[in-house]
Amino acid sequence: MSDISAAARAALQFGSDEFLYAEPYGEGHINETYAAYYRKADGTEYRNILQKINNYVFPDVDGLMENIKGVTDYLRGIVGERETMTVIPAADGKAYYLDPDGNYWRSYVFIENATAYQKIEKDEDFFTCGVSFGRFQQQLADYPAHLLHETIVNFHNTPSRYEALHAAIAADKAGRAAEVQEQIAFALAREESAGVLVQGMANGTLPCRVTHNDTKLNNILIDDATGKGQCVIDLDTVMPGAVAFDFGDCIRFGASTAAEDETDLSKVEMSLHLFRVFADGYLSTAAPFLTEAELDSLVDGARLMTLECGVRFLTDYLSGDVYFRIHRPRHNLDRCLTQFKLVADMEAKEAEMRAIVKELAAKYR
Ligand SMILES: Nc1ncnc2c1ncn2[C@@H]1O[C@H](COP(=O)(O)OP(=O)(O)O)[C@@H](O)[C@H]1O
Ligand SMILES: [Mg+2]
Repeated sequence: MSDISAAARAALQFGSDEFLYAEPYGEGHINETYAAYYRKADGTEYRNILQKINNYVFPDVDGLMENIKGVTDYLRGIVGERETMTVIPAADGKAYYLDPDGNYWRSYVFIENATAYQKIEKDEDFFTCGVSFGRFQQQLADYPAHLLHETIVNFHNTPSRYEALHAAIAADKAGRAAEVQEQIAFALAREESAGVLVQGMANGTLPCRVTHNDTKLNNILIDDATGKGQCVIDLDTVMPGAVAFDFGDCIRFGASTAAEDETDLSKVEMSLHLFRVFADGYLSTAAPFLTEAELDSLVDGARLMTLECGVRFLTDYLSGDVYFRIHRPRHNLDRCLTQFKLVADMEAKEAEMRAIVKELAAKYR
């Protein structure tokens, strides 16, 4: 859904140049994104990104924009102009504009001649994901991550995801617990290991870093001329975390040989080839700054992010499909099954995954 006239009114709040028009832009699913066109006094035209922030997903807009301002201001000090997002202030100097209907708007400098691709189509795309998100972490390695707000509280707190699972089993709202005993047993058998990353952060063995938490290919702008990752975008979920959160989630979705909701489980595997492709890109930029403990945590992250995701799908299935949008009955259960299949496969391949990380880390250190 888009609302061009509300966007046009909001566009007037950003910058003092003559506003021309706004149109829906891009394929984001969380915020409403527009391109807003302006004309300068000398006649040249340009566009900005204008977004209506999804206030339902992100209730704390002040905290959210403080995170984004903090991180992008910092990046601007160390990288080139097209390598970071730039927040355009509203007329009152704030990082967003609150319209009379209660909608929050923000604007960014439009990074031209670069494209956000929707789908990983070849190994090189996945490699680029690794390079870009590894570099993003590297550039922010010295940023005071503990100052960032948690825009989605407990996002990768795997133990708290387990608490939600226990509650859903106990409530058995949809009367489905009996049917999924095997999946419940699979999850519970792994509960003890679920806390390794959060515990590592709590006891200081894993540094608190800036993590992106939405590490999809379409959140990277790829330069049209060079084909290289130009800028990491979509910083709404930038939060304090462990580097293995981002690494792990990338492996979860990108190294799987099948879709997240594939029903033929024989097609679902964690490809060691794809694991290597991503780890190669990621470590080419991240290996130099990662601690030994962080390097060791990457494979745990892959397994844990996948387990956590499966646990969330199972929880939602037990609760009657209230959180994730479903397109068929059992959709959440199908998703849970692919994730658990991947977890089992990662457990079987753990030694190989660790060997790959070790080999590639040595290559780039
Ligand atoms: N600064 C920017 N310059 C150019 N394009 C951008 C910029 N920011 C966002 N986009 C485009 O808008 C799309 C949606 O933006 P994004 O912040 O990812 O929204 P969502 O949170 O809804 O995914 C991106 O996939 C990209 O195509
Ligand atoms: Mg996005």
